[in-house]
Amino acid sequence: MLTGNEVRSKFIEFFESKNHKHFESASLIPDDPTLLLTVAGMVPFKPFFLGQKAAPTPRVTTFQKCIRTNDLENVGRTARHHTFFEMLGNFSFGDYFKKEAISWSYEFITKILEIDKESLWVSVFTTDDEAEELWISECNFPKERIVRLGEEDNWWAAGPTGSCGPCSEIYVDLGVKFGGDENSKLGDEGTDDRFIEIWNLVFTEWNRMEDGSLEPLPKKNIDTGAGLERITSVLQKKTNNFETDLLFPIVQAMGDIAGVKYGTSEKIDFSLKVIADHVRAVTFLVNDGVIPSNEGRGYVLRRILRRAVRHGRLLGVKNLFLFEIINVIVNLMKDSYKDLEGNSKHIKKVVKIEEEKFSNTLDQGIQHVMNAIEEAKESQKDYLPGEITFKLYDTYGFPYELTEEICEENGIKIYKNEFDEKMEEQRNKARSSREIIMEKGQDSFIETFFDKYGKTKFTGYDKLVETGKILHISKIKENTYMIITDKTPFYAESGGQKADNGTISIGTSVGKVLDVQKQKDIYIHTVKITDGVSDFINGIEVQMKVDKSRRVAMAKNHSATHLLQKALREILGDHVQQAGSLVTPERLRFDFNHYEPVTDEELEKVERLVNIQISKTLPSNIRYMSMEEAKETGAMALFGDKYEDIVRVVSFGDFSTELCGGIHVENVSEIGLFKIVSETGIAAGIRRIEAQTGFTAYEGIKTMEKIMGSISKKLKTTSSKLEEKVEKTVDELKSSQKELEELKLKLSGYEVASLFKEVREIHGVKVLIKKYENKDGSSLRDIIDKVKNKLGSCIVILGSDNKKAIFTVGVTKDLTSKIKAGDLVKQLAIIAGGNGGGRPDFAQAGGKDGTKVREALNKAEEILTERL
Ligand code: SER
Repeated sequence: MLTGNEVRSKFIEFFESKNHKHFESASLIPDDPTLLLTVAGMVPFKPFFLGQKAAPTPRVTTFQKCIRTNDLENVGRTARHHTFFEMLGNFSFGDYFKKEAISWSYEFITKILEIDKESLWVSVFTTDDEAEELWISECNFPKERIVRLGEEDNWWAAGPTGSCGPCSEIYVDLGVKFGGDENSKLGDEGTDDRFIEIWNLVFTEWNRMEDGSLEPLPKKNIDTGAGLERITSVLQKKTNNFETDLLFPIVQAMGDIAGVKYGTSEKIDFSLKVIADHVRAVTFLVNDGVIPSNEGRGYVLRRILRRAVRHGRLLGVKNLFLFEIINVIVNLMKDSYKDLEGNSKHIKKVVKIEEEKFSNTLDQGIQHVMNAIEEAKESQKDYLPGEITFKLYDTYGFPYELTEEICEENGIKIYKNEFDEKMEEQRNKARSSREIIMEKGQDSFIETFFDKYGKTKFTGYDKLVETGKILHISKIKENTYMIITDKTPFYAESGGQKADNGTISIGTSVGKVLDVQKQKDIYIHTVKITDGVSDFINGIEVQMKVDKSRRVAMAKNHSATHLLQKALREILGDHVQQAGSLVTPERLRFDFNHYEPVTDEELEKVERLVNIQISKTLPSNIRYMSMEEAKETGAMALFGDKYEDIVRVVSFGDFSTELCGGIHVENVSEIGLFKIVSETGIAAGIRRIEAQTGFTAYEGIKTMEKIMGSISKKLKTTSSKLEEKVEKTVDELKSSQKELEELKLKLSGYEVASLFKEVREIHGVKVLIKKYENKDGSSLRDIIDKVKNKLGSCIVILGSDNKKAIFTVGVTKDLTSKIKAGDLVKQLAIIAGGNGGGRPDFAQAGGKDGTKVREALNKAEEILTERL
């Protein structure tokens, strides 16, 4: 019996023997802004299917890691749902078509995998007579086991528009014990678990247009996909994918951690399967540079990871466990995915941080549930409504199953259908933003232009001046035109590097090149022409001249970006991957994945390492080679470049080697100086470094120096003694401040002391009545406290005229039976047009009219004289 790993390699070997080239699995992050994740084996090849790019070779085979999350909740419940899975595929780009695709798939299944011929069924699209005939003539396939299915099953499209076509699917019949009866056919109701689809052959020959119509693709293509986990489960005669040797070691390892055994209860199996599936997805997502966050791929990762942790809890595991499972996965898959082992430390670190965070969430969640239960009980209720159970899930990330468990223990009811309703509402909201696979509409102008003239010849790597012929000119807006020429020295914006500027001229008529963009390798210049536009006509030759100083400044920044990337990897680790970059004449910006801020010390090391390379005067070496050769040089590449035929490799000495189409210096010494300007976080797990080079960096430093100079001057010292002086000054400032505080304290002591002179006795009771101006409430309160402390038994009545009136009355406890502060303050406030009250020992109140403060205080004295 073949192992899962053997199925994978046999598939590749088989198609290599049919002259296919094996490409490595592309990243889970597709080079396609319309796609969230790589959801099928064909995703990396979309441009070839659509004819947007020429395929480097007509026949390709891959095993491709994929993630689909549309059925997340089903994972673990069914035999075959996964988030992460591997797809085996063979692809033809305008080369072979149906006949070969059908006969080779049959050959592989029956000869290599040796699956029983009698158990096979196939489906073809309703109208696809050709496919049916080929199954019969090429494979001798019995007609009675060929079923015609409609669009829902047998039409495959990468999205609402774009390449698509009918397909033919191959099924294995597992037998009557999985549904139906002796006479059941593929497609009959109730036989879904019995007829297992193992391979989908798509005959990609159509392009679905925006209006829904189909146009034939320039070339007919083949896209096939066979789920590795399914094929393996059929071969190994397992009833579900998790029992194959691709996944079962993970299930077992988790069982050991939790001290439970697979097969003892449905609940336990469910959790073990979820964990086995989800940790594979988590491992590979992080491996490809995804970091947990609240949006996009980061959110997909977070949800999957949390679901795994939650199922760990359901199995009774309280400690962190994901890293142990990751070890198992790395061991199982490292031979097929070469970068996995090297990245495993990084993967575990990222996962551990998130797992820890979520474990805390779980603990807090339990607190929230307890509070909700408490509240329900207090208001005599015995149930929690859906809003609350959903809020616990949605806002606090607390799993419903746990809410249910805790409620049960506390005799509180909750209803799953209420929760589900809320969930459904939320899902409907999220659906529109979920991954949709869409092709970008093709610009028909560019299409037509390309067919007529082909690519623009770019000569700018060697030349800054070129004579080109205008092939197209059209007006964009007032004085601004779009010009396409046969040749151009202008670099079009790409790979983060901004476009060249410069001029396009005919005699004395000059246009300013503001921007250059390329589409399908056609260079489109945006040109401002103020005078002589009538000279610029199709077919005429123009002088094209690149602005050299701008170009040179960008070359420095671009080469420095390469040195920076390498330095970051050396100092921070190999997990550092480019997440975006921008090269302008003024500065460079480099975004990369790293889970915590880069420390000052690390930044200094990085900056120093780059400058050391500059001082080593490393020469640049630019070579063109095949992808294979490039890989041997250890070139760093972004996944998008992976399938180009011939690649451009830029090296600086043996320090840095990258695939890159940009403009670079000839020797790194031209960079002169490299200075990091800032380091910030721009998204969860993504950091950004901005830096400057050459003269701009020098000017930055010069500015700093000037600032230092002027500070030194102000502090009456020299730059070399500045630090000492600043320290001394700061110390002095601190002690002056301390002294000031002490003085203030003393002063307020004096103020209060002087007050005591004004204390009088009314019928033997110590009384202080005093009027202030512009004193706020808290100062008045302060005075009252101090006086009360000092005098022991007394009554203090303070008023302040702040335009408005404010009164504060304090009465020591022994006297409150005679005079209540609250009552008294009220009487005073009324006089000043206000109202108020308060406690018997202390009260504060206000009135509109500050001029009445004196009158009110006189009244106070009268009252006291009467009552005491
Ligand atoms: N693209 C097709 C699928 O995903 C065949 O590879 O099923």
